[in-house]
Amino acid sequence: MNVLVVGSGGREHALVWKIAQSPLVKKIYCAPGNPGTGRLAENVPLKVDDLDGLLAFAREKAIDLTVVGPELPLSLGLVDRFEAAGLLAFGARRNAAIIEASKAFSKDLMQKYRVPTAFYEVFTEVEPALAFIARHGAPIVVKADGLAAGKGVIVARTTEEANAAVRDMLSGNAFGAAGSRVVIEEFLEGEEASFLAFTDGQRIIPLASAQDHKPVFDNDEGPNTGGMGAYSPAPVVTPAVHEKAMAEVMRRAVDGMAAEGRRYQGVLYAGLMIKDGEVKTLEFNARFGDPECQPLLMRLKSDLVPVLIACARGNLEGIELEWHDQAAVCVVMASGGYPGDFAKGFPIDGLEQAEQIDDLVVFHAGTAEAGGRIVNSGGRVLGVTGRGPTVAAAIDKAYQGVRTIAWEGAHYRTDIGGKALGR
Ligand code: AMP
Ligand code: GLY
Repeated sequence: MNVLVVGSGGREHALVWKIAQSPLVKKIYCAPGNPGTGRLAENVPLKVDDLDGLLAFAREKAIDLTVVGPELPLSLGLVDRFEAAGLLAFGARRNAAIIEASKAFSKDLMQKYRVPTAFYEVFTEVEPALAFIARHGAPIVVKADGLAAGKGVIVARTTEEANAAVRDMLSGNAFGAAGSRVVIEEFLEGEEASFLAFTDGQRIIPLASAQDHKPVFDNDEGPNTGGMGAYSPAPVVTPAVHEKAMAEVMRRAVDGMAAEGRRYQGVLYAGLMIKDGEVKTLEFNARFGDPECQPLLMRLKSDLVPVLIACARGNLEGIELEWHDQAAVCVVMASGGYPGDFAKGFPIDGLEQAEQIDDLVVFHAGTAEAGGRIVNSGGRVLGVTGRGPTVAAAIDKAYQGVRTIAWEGAHYRTDIGGKALGR
């Protein structure tokens, strides 16, 4: 079959890498892709929000399955458009992707269907929002309602900081329309985990556990990023936590979406906060996490393609996932200055040497080709992902790869996976 993967990040490189191993697949296209996907797939210069272009391309190339990576095309209704044209597409439909695209929707859903989450209120006006902050004090969390590329959440340590975030967002200066509504919620303490599951709208098949590292610096310091590294399995997700997440978070969310007439098909990602065995939901995403996808797919033994097809067809019956016993760790190498402004166009050294290392895959994200060299072109540039018998061994493997690679200004965290070792 012919497969089209939509997106251009490390997640999409990992999807292409895994799909390429399927005996069912003859040819893969990636739109727009990156130099990493370009080795396994044919990159197509179409933007992820060019729904007309993508649909015309899929028809012309007789694409049998389209796999949507990022949230933007999901929330624009790519899957709905493809379905209406009789084409199979993996991912949440528009009316289900709202679980990520609107934090106010997502919080109201959680409240209505008793998914444990932080206490909150939704505001469109500055004064009542400031009054709420004054009443509850800091720390407190201010979230832009709409999509903001992972940057729309301010964990405010002081009420001044929270007030400033509210003013910024509601004035339309920060995040434009995405910030015209804000969710303000209780600050939760604990350790985070990323809990992902495939669902056909009724059946729920969890993926292995994973943990992301959002802050830019070691020891979780500095501003949040899209994710500086991830690993799997994550021991914070004990069997008891897993049971709770399935029963109280996934089951209630999937059933709630169905009850709302928003049947959820695809991969559902819950960001969890875990404390003393209690599980609360920080957010839902309508897609694979990036970088969580990279270590997860390196650990997945089963063929991914039948799972994606079953989700898209709305029937997961008979699907089971098999995992490698090994652990996997992905360390993100970022451009100097990221998550702020960064300089790009620097040639990357050591990629070929890193690719010689066994049990290591270098997933490309923000890379480009210039003058016959691979250069950095985005904030998160590479996801250097190692596999090993334990998390400790996988950490060593990933950092062996990282130390082989260099470009001007490159930076990365040196403590990815460290929380797993403490347990
Ligand atoms: P979100 O996009 O809603 O997951 O928020 C991004 C990040 O902000 C999360 O991964 C957490 O690190 C942090 N965060 C979000 N909500 C809360 C909360 N209620 N309490 C503490 N931290 C939070
Ligand atoms: N790594 C966090 C996310 O994909 O949202």
